[in-house]
Amino acid sequence: MDQAKGLRQIAKSDALAKSHARMASHTKKYPKVIAVTSGKGGVGKTNIVGNLAVAMTRKGKKVVIIDADVGLANIDIVFNLRPEYSIRHVVSSEKRLDQVMVKTHHGIGIVPGGTGFSDLTRLNEGEKLTLLSEFETLAEKADIIFVDTGAGISSNVLYFNAAADECMVVATTEPTSITDAYALMKVMSQKYGTRHFKLIVNMVDSERDAKRVYASLSNALDKFLKNVVLEYAGFIPFDRQLQRAVQKRGLVMDAFPDSTAANALEKIASDLLNHGDRNRSDGNLTFFMNRVFQAAT
Ligand SMILES: Nc1ncnc2c1ncn2[C@@H]1O[C@H](COP(=O)(O)OP(=O)(O)OP(=O)(O)O)[C@@H](O)[C@H]1O
Ligand SMILES: [Mg+2]
Repeated sequence: MDQAKGLRQIAKSDALAKSHARMASHTKKYPKVIAVTSGKGGVGKTNIVGNLAVAMTRKGKKVVIIDADVGLANIDIVFNLRPEYSIRHVVSSEKRLDQVMVKTHHGIGIVPGGTGFSDLTRLNEGEKLTLLSEFETLAEKADIIFVDTGAGISSNVLYFNAAADECMVVATTEPTSITDAYALMKVMSQKYGTRHFKLIVNMVDSERDAKRVYASLSNALDKFLKNVVLEYAGFIPFDRQLQRAVQKRGLVMDAFPDSTAANALEKIASDLLNHGDRNRSDGNLTFFMNRVFQAAT
């Protein structure tokens, strides 16, 4: 009798274990999507994305960059690439996403946006479904996806920011960059209910300046927008070596790995990987492009 009961219990726990294993295999692990954005243009987004991607790749992460800037696509320049196709060819079903994606010598996948993202609301259902299913294929290919958005508050930028797991705002010490960063966070919080942002302050003389920018932005948020949290993600000094690298169509991380900018970017990348616990993907089974379309409707 006892033995039969024991056997029944073993059979039951075996079935339970099998069903858990089945459930686990259905729970897909999605990459973390980090949108890098700014109010004002020219503050360093593309260089930040490129260098953080290199730093994370060196730490063993699989990284993909989506160039969502519908203006001048300059991620190609810092990686010295000349992509033949863009997302436009995926939307029109001429190419698959992996035929459009180019690989850098580091192994980073670059998805050239071109004008393919230019007006997400105007895509028809078929085109949307194509994009959705093609982007699902990224789930196995990446641990981290960076979205290099354009500057400003155009609808496309807002959709990408709203859909990302993390919205990383880049600002400099320039007053216009600070007020534009504030305006961007205001719109994001009012239109899409975004409550959490991270801030990188670029081109500073010292960390004190970066902390000042952070303090003024978070004070303004506290005062005028309740419940919006701005997290300080780090600073990057003004560094001519970064500019020299750009002039050679390269990244400071590759060209001048010991420079102050490269060190600062390396630290930001480590911190992001170590404290990246706010991963909305864990609980949200709709993947990035799906959320972009949700934001766009
Ligand atoms: N830390 C830095 N030190 C010195 N110069 C910098 C630094 N970061 C960026 N720059 C300069 O700013 C220029 C613009 O940078 P980047 O193209 O990355 O900005 P962006 O925000 O992507 O611009 P856009 O809004 O046009 O897409 C770089 O080419 C470089 O000359
Ligand atoms: Mg750019």
